[in-house]
Amino acid sequence: MAPSGPPVGLPRLLRSGSRSDAPLRLSAHVERLGPPPLGGDVRRGPREALIRAVDAGGLRGRGGSGFPMARKLRAVADGARRPVVVANGTEGEPASTKDKLLLQSAPHLVLDGVMLAAEAVGARRAIVCVEQAARRAVLSMEAAVDERRATRLDPIEIELAAAPSGYVVGEESALVRWLNGGPPKPTFVPPRPFEKGVGGRPTLVQNVETLAHLALLARYGPDWFREIGTPGHAGSALVTVSGAVSRPGVYEIAPGTPIAEMITACGGAPDDARAILVGGYAGRWLDLDHHLQLGLSDDQLGQVGASLGAGVVVVLPRSGCGLAETTRIARYLAGESSGQCGPCVNGLEAIAAGLDQLHRGQSGAGTAATLRRWAGDVAGRGACHHPDGAARLVASALEVFSDDIDWHRRHGRCLVDAGGPRPATSHAGRSG
Ligand SMILES: Cc1cc2nc3c(=O)[nH]c(=O)nc-3n(C[C@H](O)[C@H](O)[C@H](O)COP(=O)(O)O)c2cc1C
Ligand code: SF4
Repeated sequence: MAPSGPPVGLPRLLRSGSRSDAPLRLSAHVERLGPPPLGGDVRRGPREALIRAVDAGGLRGRGGSGFPMARKLRAVADGARRPVVVANGTEGEPASTKDKLLLQSAPHLVLDGVMLAAEAVGARRAIVCVEQAARRAVLSMEAAVDERRATRLDPIEIELAAAPSGYVVGEESALVRWLNGGPPKPTFVPPRPFEKGVGGRPTLVQNVETLAHLALLARYGPDWFREIGTPGHAGSALVTVSGAVSRPGVYEIAPGTPIAEMITACGGAPDDARAILVGGYAGRWLDLDHHLQLGLSDDQLGQVGASLGAGVVVVLPRSGCGLAETTRIARYLAGESSGQCGPCVNGLEAIAAGLDQLHRGQSGAGTAATLRRWAGDVAGRGACHHPDGAARLVASALEVFSDDIDWHRRHGRCLVDAGGPRPATSHAGRSG
């Protein structure tokens, strides 16, 4: 049977709606999309035309930083030695399940992307990293790799690596260090993995969702890819929505979808939502008194210093306490540092403790200002971006929940924790 042609509209990566998690086997995958458009011989070296298509399509990384994929492909392809491709499916972000769902439900889309990336840069080694604890994702990928091996679909062997759990394990230098036999902790860069990574070779580390997009972009071209999204955030995006919604889960959206529309689609009430945490635990709080109609895309969120990051939206209800939630996350982030640098070791615990004081109403008048200064001090000072993310989260909480900080201090406690109604703040009379 001939493949059904380019998908029109959404979904692209997920099969239907938000909860399709049964693995699509190889025969059904090929029937639907056709075989991956591989050039034939990976030994020929980099495929410049594919890199140009990725550039024209404007595909950016979906693992958190939103870095343009074409620039990374070029840098790795231009390296002195034959490169290695690493698919990052470790998904250490606690508020995200999109990568696990993709690995479970569309393993061959990811593996097509891995093969295409290997061809684009001229790699002969490709490794797919999945969190060992994500059993369904691991099993789905093992079965998919076996199917491809049996049909000799791929020009090079795909290796599977079951990675340990942890927030910083998915940081690219930590992943490369672990693949090289070391502990899964970030290294002190440079050289970056794209210069010297697995086995000392230039290494392309790419999030698994990014690779799944590549599998479609290579089939249907850059113009098709840009049909969904915004100029600065092309292609669809997987977003994990949780918090004050009745249908939490992974949704495939068109970047630019207004926040209010997203909350409604997930069974939430935009008017009852106080704020969202967007991007992930290393993301930013946005108060919904002013941003309900803002589009969920990197270009629109960028106007207020945020990004879609790892594709996370956590909805905080009006009955919730943003300070309590931020304290919990800051503690988690402090505990997840690899303990190698001063900003994490000395800074993150102290910031979490200060937040806890704010939340319990036990802080002095200058505590928020001190925390703001500490957040500024730790940002950009670690070997990896872990403290930067924590600092961004904390700085945004101090801004968005400033009325709450005053209220907690005046009353010496958190009313939400005590089971009472939320304090009245200046947020009445919101406009959408
Ligand atoms: C603390 C930390 C944790 C990270 N965890 C992940 C992760 O779990 N999965 C992921 O794909 N990228 C993660 N990243 C980003 C990777 O370092 C890297 O940028 C990404 O895998 C590149 O893929 P992309 O360009 O396709 O997004 C993390 C970064 C940091 C600083
Ligand atoms: S900045 Fe923090 S998480 Fe990153 S390497 Fe240093 S101690 Fe580890």
